[in-house]
Amino acid sequence: MQVLHTAAELRAALAGKSHTAFVPTMGNLHAGHASLVELATQHGNPVVASIFVNPLQFGVGEDFERYPRTLAADCEQLAAAGCELVFAPAAAELYPLPQRYIVQPPAEMANDLCGAFRPGHFSGVATVVLKLFNLVQPQVAVFGKKDFQQLLLIRELVQQFNLSIGIVAGDTLREADGLAMSSRNGYLSASERIQAPLLQRELTAVAAAVGAGERDFDGLCAVASRHLKMAGWQVDYVALRDADTLQAPDPETSRRLVVLGAAWLGSTRLIDNCEFSLGG
Ligand code: PAJ
Repeated sequence: MQVLHTAAELRAALAGKSHTAFVPTMGNLHAGHASLVELATQHGNPVVASIFVNPLQFGVGEDFERYPRTLAADCEQLAAAGCELVFAPAAAELYPLPQRYIVQPPAEMANDLCGAFRPGHFSGVATVVLKLFNLVQPQVAVFGKKDFQQLLLIRELVQQFNLSIGIVAGDTLREADGLAMSSRNGYLSASERIQAPLLQRELTAVAAAVGAGERDFDGLCAVASRHLKMAGWQVDYVALRDADTLQAPDPETSRRLVVLGAAWLGSTRLIDNCEFSLGG
């Protein structure tokens, strides 16, 4: 596996390749990331992964500085998962000048759910992903359902800018107790780590209740949110949406739904979601 730090090295390594599959990451990799790389090997060759902690998508006071940088360990995991090329640029390589052209996702996507609590986050994501797509020029790119809103936003980015890139979605990998794997889980104290699976349990409970015929969606989300608060979490949102549009579910037409949640345990913000079908 080659590790490349500049756009010029990347271009040289990719010359003549026409079936590249790409997995963008911010590093500090875990088995969830590795599963996306394994999925990518089924969709293209070579598999390219990027590792870049993108300053543009972090708000003031967020964890950009303390986000773990673990390149050597990341490369071991990527090689084991079947990655051939790692693109790990310095900030000055991706942003040699202040980024003045910014991709602005539609407001109803950018300012909803996580976007409502992280102003500018999704435009930072869309901007860096478009830059990475232009550098890697993949035929396929793999994103995790763990970041459900991000996945839908990237799908729309590709559609609206006519990019010839197939977007493949990977399932969320979880710890044995149900906690979604995340680079941010490393911030949790021992007692917070024990509490952490509650977010997934509450989202799953909402899905189960809807599956059992309950239709007071807002009421169910409020109950989940209250349970989290009673256990000491600070809740950003718990919401039930159409899984294809992320709009409020339409009882007539919505077939796939998703319950999404974001909440803080101490100084760590966790997100998760649970996708399910209406009517079996
Ligand atoms: P990062 O948080 O490193 O995630 C990289 C990819 O791994 C994303 O597509 C994310 O959804 C996926 N992922 C995270 N946890 C996962 C899990 N438990 N199981 C399966 N997949 C998981 O998302 C980003 O980086 C950035 O926003 C990025 C797209 C790289 C742009 O900077």
